[in-house]
Amino acid sequence: MPGIFPSEHSLGCRIEGIDLSKPLNHYDESLIIDAFGRFGVVCFPNQVLGPAQHKAFASRFGSLEINVAAGPYTVPNHPEVMILSNETIDGKPVGLGDAGQDWHTDMSYSTTIAFLNVLYALRVPRRNGTALGDTEFLDMCAAYEDLPHGIKKEIEDLTATHDFDKFWSKMVSLPGSKRKPLSDEQRAAKPPVSHPLVLHHPISKRKALYCNVGYVTRIDNISETESDKLLQFLFRHQLKEEFKYAHSWTEGDVLAWDNLWTMHNAKADYKATEIRSMWRCQTMADRIFL
Ligand code: SIN
Repeated sequence: MPGIFPSEHSLGCRIEGIDLSKPLNHYDESLIIDAFGRFGVVCFPNQVLGPAQHKAFASRFGSLEINVAAGPYTVPNHPEVMILSNETIDGKPVGLGDAGQDWHTDMSYSTTIAFLNVLYALRVPRRNGTALGDTEFLDMCAAYEDLPHGIKKEIEDLTATHDFDKFWSKMVSLPGSKRKPLSDEQRAAKPPVSHPLVLHHPISKRKALYCNVGYVTRIDNISETESDKLLQFLFRHQLKEEFKYAHSWTEGDVLAWDNLWTMHNAKADYKATEIRSMWRCQTMADRIFL
């Protein structure tokens, strides 16, 4: 029988006793889906996966994305498994070295939004025995519930524009960035899209603030001044410490998180010589909303 061990925060739990290298049975699958709705961020420790097994697990919950920014950074013959790594071999990067290093929600810029990110830790940087490169999370159901009543009413029927280029251009502009501006083709593949600001979570039935400082550029159908003012408020609100949870990595962790009610940030507190390597699958929310 698998055991579920909740963290002390509103987000985060560990599930022990499920070997993700084997096909999931229906009981474990529904236990895991329920955990996404209750805890948002779920760690499966001590896993040993190949890319096909990683994909098989992630694809139980929706179809897998081939990331438009993956470029050469995928596991050979497995384009859905992206390599996130600061390692270089013969001077060449083996993966995207700065993925997710600021607050955002993955794939909110897509017409079909993402349900899950599923990361598998291959190498974790450590200094004096302490793991570095945590992934931090924010609870967007708690953020919604904590909004003043007037703001809840104001945003109930509003939509916001999410643009892939917002986060990408910010990363490109950072000193030492190895990213190139998006090509016309990448831009065309991911044009700006609109989504409701309030998302009704399909598992927990709670409301979540679906607005993230990484990709949201504009609240639709109100003046630019009103949009700027409201976004300034929402961005400040959602980054409050009280909504935060951090995952400290160990090799062999599979961490799967629900993008429908979380934001995340990959903490860049390690040096170029301290290697952090992960494989990532992204599972779209095309089954969970059915
Ligand atoms: C991501 O944003 O998908 C990457 C997060 C991480 O590497 O911790």
